[in-house]
Amino acid sequence: MEFKSKIKTIEWVDNYSKMVDQTVIPYEYKFVNITTGENMFHAIRDMIVRGAPAIGIAGAHGVVLFAQEGRDKFSNTEDFKIWLIDKAEYMKTSRPTAVNLMWACEKQIEIIKNSKSDINGLIEELKQNAIKLENEDIEINKKIGDYGAEVVPKGATILTHCNAGALATVGYGTALGVVRSAFAKDNTIQVFADETRPRQQGARITTFELAMDGIPVTLITDGMCSYFMSKGMIDMVVVGADRIAANGDTANKIGTYTVAIAAKYHNIPFYIAAPLSTIDTSIASGKEIPIEERSHEEVTHINGKRICAEGVNIINPGFDVTPHELISGIITEKGILRPDYNKSISEAFKG
Ligand code: MRU
Repeated sequence: MEFKSKIKTIEWVDNYSKMVDQTVIPYEYKFVNITTGENMFHAIRDMIVRGAPAIGIAGAHGVVLFAQEGRDKFSNTEDFKIWLIDKAEYMKTSRPTAVNLMWACEKQIEIIKNSKSDINGLIEELKQNAIKLENEDIEINKKIGDYGAEVVPKGATILTHCNAGALATVGYGTALGVVRSAFAKDNTIQVFADETRPRQQGARITTFELAMDGIPVTLITDGMCSYFMSKGMIDMVVVGADRIAANGDTANKIGTYTVAIAAKYHNIPFYIAAPLSTIDTSIASGKEIPIEERSHEEVTHINGKRICAEGVNIINPGFDVTPHELISGIITEKGILRPDYNKSISEAFKG
């Protein structure tokens, strides 16, 4: 039985990008239409759309939006191409850590460079490519889900951190794709979701989408995970990824590393679920992954209300890197990669 998820996070419609506004979940579930390249840059930076695969698709859409805006500015295709590549490079800088954004913009840049069409023809090619990436994302996630479901024990309680669900992708999700596929086979499984301070993606988004799909979920605060592990209440951990280095070191939402250490201590399998587009084989280890530093207000305030004294020092990295030694397997659309990751990752790209 295939699990039908109700959510489509981002979609190209006619000549604009339609996306779920993730800043207002769970109070509202509403869609916004992004009609310019600059607005897409801000939608990504301000996390209206978020999650590595979703911002990859948003980046690809953003390049199409810029292309549409450039149509009347240029009569010469080569000048148009130079201008558009510059815009695609700009789109890549909207957020630094999730490599899917660079990957998808790079796919659009390849089309711009190789196209033999005129301006209108090129815009159509970019649009078709964005739609293709969009459709492929859901197919890939279903494969990840099905491979991952094979390692979910019967009746398991699965801990996850942040949101690597339908709302972090076009649909279905990576870590929550594993949950969805496992739930389709065994409806006695359940999820424990870390709240994920400071932006609460676990509390706001993961619980929202699992509740929407009728999958049992218990919300816990970030500091509670080792307590529940010590009580034998967690059977496995599955999280997503923003960038995976060639040796398997994995950047994901801040706090993931803590969960991985706790899982290792308690002998609980810790899995990453991510498409191959999240793997950056150009970097040897996690030391080279750029970590986004976000606004101090995310830490000092909750719902617009200050929660600490004025003048305290703040530091707010958005991601951390889990060393490959702590990772039991990386669940991809090509199967579950196991250590030695240098070897299994390079084989996944060959096959
Ligand atoms: O800052 P966010 O909300 O974009 O961070 C998202 C995460 O860290 C996700 O776990 C990751 O992108 C995987 S999404 C399938």
